Amino acid sequence: MKLIIMGAPGAGKGTQAEILSEKLGIPTISTGNILRAAVRDGTPVGRKAKALIEAGSLVSDDVIIGILNERLGHEDCANGYILDGVPRTLAQADMLHAEGVEVDAVIDIDVSDEAIEKRMTGRRTCSGCSATYHVAFNPPATEGVCDHCGGRLTIRKDDLPETVRHRLEVYHAETEPLLDYYEREGKLLRVNGEQSLEATTASILAALEELEI
Ligand code: AP5
Ligand code: MG
Repeated sequence: MKLIIMGAPGAGKGTQAEILSEKLGIPTISTGNILRAAVRDGTPVGRKAKALIEAGSLVSDDVIIGILNERLGHEDCANGYILDGVPRTLAQADMLHAEGVEVDAVIDIDVSDEAIEKRMTGRRTCSGCSATYHVAFNPPATEGVCDHCGGRLTIRKDDLPETVRHRLEVYHAETEPLLDYYEREGKLLRVNGEQSLEATTASILAALEELEI
């Protein structure tokens, strides 16, 4: 199964992608996580992307296309994958199409801008494996420590309130138009992301079941 998870910054894409990845036995490909690892490791891509990510602006389509081409060639993608945070522009969607990548469904996790601004202040991200937590809504067993790998939990630099507002503007201008693109293809599944984590997962699974993939 090949899925795209879409939604505004902080809608819960990463959180739901991790859960679905485990349930469906397919990997998640998060361009955000790949870029943050590149920044941490100081690679050429990381050096190009660092300032853009920290400002909440999009990294160029060329860089994203390069990352995706490389990652989709790995063996673990043979039975499918979940794309988290990509495509994010019409050019990226066109590129996937041109490369013959046909996804089964596009899940849009719908959350209002107001709810997102509240959520982002409580997010914590594992510095080791990129797992996502929330201090109130999805806390780790031990404060500041990742349940999966024992890594240190950190606050992302782009989670400052003014940066989150800019990311929301970029989302509405550049990424939201893709919802129409996938709706026209009959692939869009809209899910209410303002429910609890568990209820949101249940809504996604119910929507996928209806597709009978
Ligand atoms: P990326 O890492 O993709 O960030 P994003 O899209 O801004 O989304 P987030 O990761 O911030 O949020 P999320 O939807 O994954 O929510 P989460 O599950 O964490 O991209 C970062 C940057 O990289 C971009 O700004 C850009 O510069 C660059 N980039 C990446 N991909 C690119 C591309 N394709 N093209 C160009 N540039 C690209 O949840 C948020 C919080 O809410 C967490 O604390 C979570 O625990 C909590 N939460 C989740 N669900 C619920 C719920 N139901 N109830 C309560 N709390 C919840
Ligand atoms: Mg994410």
